Parts: sequence; structure tokens; C-alpha cells
Amino acid sequence: MQHRAQEVIDLCRELAGFTEEPGHTTRTFLSPPMRDVHRELGSRMEQLGMSVTVDAAGNLRGFYPARTPGARRVIIGSHLDTVPHAGAFDGILGVVMGIAMVDALTSLRMPFGIEVVGFSEEEGVRFGVPFIGSRALAGTLDETLLGVRDSQGVSAADAIRSFGLDPARLPEARMADNTLGYLEVHIEQGPVLESLNYPLGVVETIVGQSRLIVSFIGKSGHAGTTSMDLRRDALAAAARWITSVESIAQSTPGLVATVGRLEIDPNARNVIAGSVRASLDVRHSQDTIRHQAVDRMLKEAKQTATDRGLKLEEQQQLDQPAVSMDATLVKRLAQAVKTAGYPVHHMSSGAGHDAMILATKIPTAMLFLRSPGGISHHPDENVLAEDVTAALNAGMHFLEQWESHLD
Ligand code: HGY
Ligand code: MN
Ligand code: MN
Repeated sequence: MQHRAQEVIDLCRELAGFTEEPGHTTRTFLSPPMRDVHRELGSRMEQLGMSVTVDAAGNLRGFYPARTPGARRVIIGSHLDTVPHAGAFDGILGVVMGIAMVDALTSLRMPFGIEVVGFSEEEGVRFGVPFIGSRALAGTLDETLLGVRDSQGVSAADAIRSFGLDPARLPEARMADNTLGYLEVHIEQGPVLESLNYPLGVVETIVGQSRLIVSFIGKSGHAGTTSMDLRRDALAAAARWITSVESIAQSTPGLVATVGRLEIDPNARNVIAGSVRASLDVRHSQDTIRHQAVDRMLKEAKQTATDRGLKLEEQQQLDQPAVSMDATLVKRLAQAVKTAGYPVHHMSSGAGHDAMILATKIPTAMLFLRSPGGISHHPDENVLAEDVTAALNAGMHFLEQWESHLD
């Protein structure tokens, strides 16, 4: 398996070069480099005897048939899109691992089919709302989401059309109702496994997340001639609010909150900011605590705006509940890790994943690989070859378990 592991890493690093931004890894929903990734991975899938399609949501789908036609299937996958200036492994590692696991079967057919899926959009970079690809498989990709527009005013439905796909065929993208389950292999993106010196982790829950846009609307003006008492400075207000978001998060155990993006108008050095659209990302394993924290943050925003004579607008983009993985599959995955000879660590995921969406419809499990330095959403993101070997071994044992437990 070691040579397979190195091939997995080398391929992920090669595909990191399929980008919208030369010199960085940036690959958003149905952008041109996504087509190149489809071509590259699709040809590898075909060499393994898989039938390859791209569904109406832009998901790459490779199917490795069972030993008998019409048998049920398991899905192995993750996302192919990235955040801006990403690393080489977040998402795509799980797709390449799926292909490597099919390869490791060396043409042996299982009593179930294996579908390897590369989801088209998990990060939510282009439209602000994540999980477009996996929602298509879950059948929850609704008109509202298809109508959301990107910063150029292009709707998700139009983006699908300009990629040469047909939104009217989205119902065909739904996964089969009798799908046996879903396995997502993913980097941990945090420090836990490294601190334990463990190669693998078995995910039990994925924390819930809220994503909002909070807009402070004041009045732009001349930076040189407008006295401080006459200003309605949207950026100064947002800055004050961001520090209160941070202190609410710091004082709430287990909560994380991030303002990662500011759209400032007119965004000029010598003009007082007239308006600021701030992104807010809040996460916690308990949905009630997360909701209470968001309410407190919005109250702070209202107070800050009132104190400074500004208007406030808020737009909820996502309220994704925390999700538990399937208890039976968690047990089996832990057993597979143990059989492969590695220590078992059950953990929760602070990062969101397509597994959250599929888990609402089919039994779902996630296997984490150690993230050196806990680094992710950064070019220094990495994986160790020995951990990829460990994950491949555990993954193959997991498939064997599925075989022996097939009813
Ligand atoms: O934001 C996340 O948690 C994931 O990387 N999409
Ligand atoms: Mn990510
Ligand atoms: Mn990811």
C-alpha cells in the first residue's frame, strides 16, 4: 500500500495545480479547472473499469459495478472545490482515496457497487452557501439555492448551464434510495490527531454551523474634511463589532466564530467607508449554544449600529445543524482501523463536510487523517504517506466489513 499512498499524494499535489489563480490553488464551483480535474480523475476511473458521468450539479461520478447487476452500492467521496489559496488535500484527497481503494481491489468485484463521487461545491466560496453538490445527491438542492447569485450576478442555475449541464436534470442526480451508505475520507484540518500522534481518527459528530452576512450601512465621506463627530463610518463600526464577536466566542466554551470576509464600499484610502458587508461563521457541537451565540452577536451588531447612527441588515445564508455519524458504521470503521493495526480515536469535526448532508439520508461515516501542524485552508496543508497508507488499509477493511455484514 505504501506505493499507492505515494501515488495518492502525488496525484493530489498534481491536481492542486488545476487552478483559477496561477501560483495558488483556487478552484470554485464549475470553474474551468474543474473540467480539467474531471478529465484527469475520470480517465483514471475509466482505466479501472468504472463508468464515469458528470451529473447536473457538476459532481463527478464514477461507478464500479458489483459482481451482480442491480446490487446496492456504497458511495465514497468528498469535494473537488477549494477555498481560495488552498492546500492540496482538503476534499480532493477523499476522492482520490476512493479511486485508490477501487484500484486496490485489483478488479475483484464486491457484492455491492462502489460509486466514487467528487462533489462540485462544498466550500460555499462562489455563492456563499455550501454543499450544492451533495445536496443534489440528497435531493435537497432547491430553487432558492439555484437562484443564489455570485459576485458577478450569475445564479447557480446559470453557472450550471454555462458549464454545459442542465438544471432540469437535477432529479437524476439523486442517489439511489437503497444506497448502503457513504464513507468520506478527509484530513482532520486541526491539531488533535497530531497531538495524540495518531494517524487516523473516527468521526462521531460534525459540529453545526451558521453562516450570515451582517451589513453596516453608514455614510461615505471625505477622509480629510469630515470631522470625527460627523462621521457614520461603517468600517469603524464593523471593526468594533468584530472584536465583540471574538470576545463572545472566547467566553463560550467549544464555540468558534469567524469574520473572514469584508466587502467595503467604496473601499478607497481617502474615503470614509459607507457600507461594510461582513461574513459571520459560527460553529458549535450543540445547536442551542450556537443559536444563542449568534443571537448575542446580532444584538451586539444592532447596538453598535444604533450607537453610531448606522443602519444594520442581516442575511442568514446557512443554519446547518450538528450531525451525528451512523452508530453502526462508526463501530465498523473503528474496528477496521483496529484490524489495520492502528489506535482508534473517536472525535468530532469542527470543519463542515459533505457527510453532513448525506448523513440526513443514508448511513454515513468519516475517517480522518492527521493534519501535520493542524494546518488547513492554507498552502502548507499536508498529509503523511504513512497516514495515507493507514487510511487505505483501514478503508479496505471497512469494505470487507460491509461485505460480511451485508443483509
Ligand atoms: O468550512 C468548512 O468547515 C469546510 O472546510 N468547508
Ligand atoms: Mn475546506
Ligand atoms: Mn473539506
